[in-house]
Amino acid sequence: MVKAMLGEGVLGRAVERGVVTVGVHDLRDYTSDRHRTVDDVPYGGGPGMVLKAEPFVRACEGIRRDHGEPASVALMSPQGRPFRHAEAVRFSQLRHMVLLCGRYEGVDERVRDQLVTDEVSIGDYVLSGGELAAAVVVEAVARLVPGVVGDAESVRQDSFARGLLDYPDYTRPASLDGHAVPEVLLSGHHGAIRTWRKRQAVRRTRERRPELLEHAVLDDEERAALSALENE
Ligand code: ADE
Repeated sequence: MVKAMLGEGVLGRAVERGVVTVGVHDLRDYTSDRHRTVDDVPYGGGPGMVLKAEPFVRACEGIRRDHGEPASVALMSPQGRPFRHAEAVRFSQLRHMVLLCGRYEGVDERVRDQLVTDEVSIGDYVLSGGELAAAVVVEAVARLVPGVVGDAESVRQDSFARGLLDYPDYTRPASLDGHAVPEVLLSGHHGAIRTWRKRQAVRRTRERRPELLEHAVLDDEERAALSALENE
């Protein structure tokens, strides 16, 4: 699942070009019994199976031996801290990090005690495994590594880099079944377009994610747009 995703799109091309390197490790390769067992019943009883600690410990030992000490060992789990832009920035500045994917009902707590430095949740919902969560983190972090996305300016302009949602985009045709593109975008007046976009971004953010505005870094025009909306 993770390998397939790593081969595609912006990330796939970055991996091909060697700008980022991503290794995928199967926990079963770090077991020593015939059945390559990675889980067991929970002490104390209860439903479901718990992922054993040893395969994680061995996997991390192997990775450390081959690639050196990782700057972060992050466990993907709904119990983790919410993964946001700030975490993506922090991870993007690390030379090497390990993402551990949990599965089934839980992971032996000693994995957290002995290995994990960051516990990361991608949202308040439960996935059956951490693989998709890890893929989300890899994609978001890799975008912030210089050279992964061709246009560095577009990364700087991304919504959460600035704390505002994006303004609406349009492309041809200028009229679609009677729905016209806003006039200002056809005007060729760059100043007016910039102002319109800032207002739209502020309006959307205020309507959909007002809490983002508490930490958003606004310029004079954006601040003016916000007070105008507040006085509407
Ligand atoms: N594993 C299962 N659910 C998850 C979530 N919401 N975030 C990260 N890892 C998970």
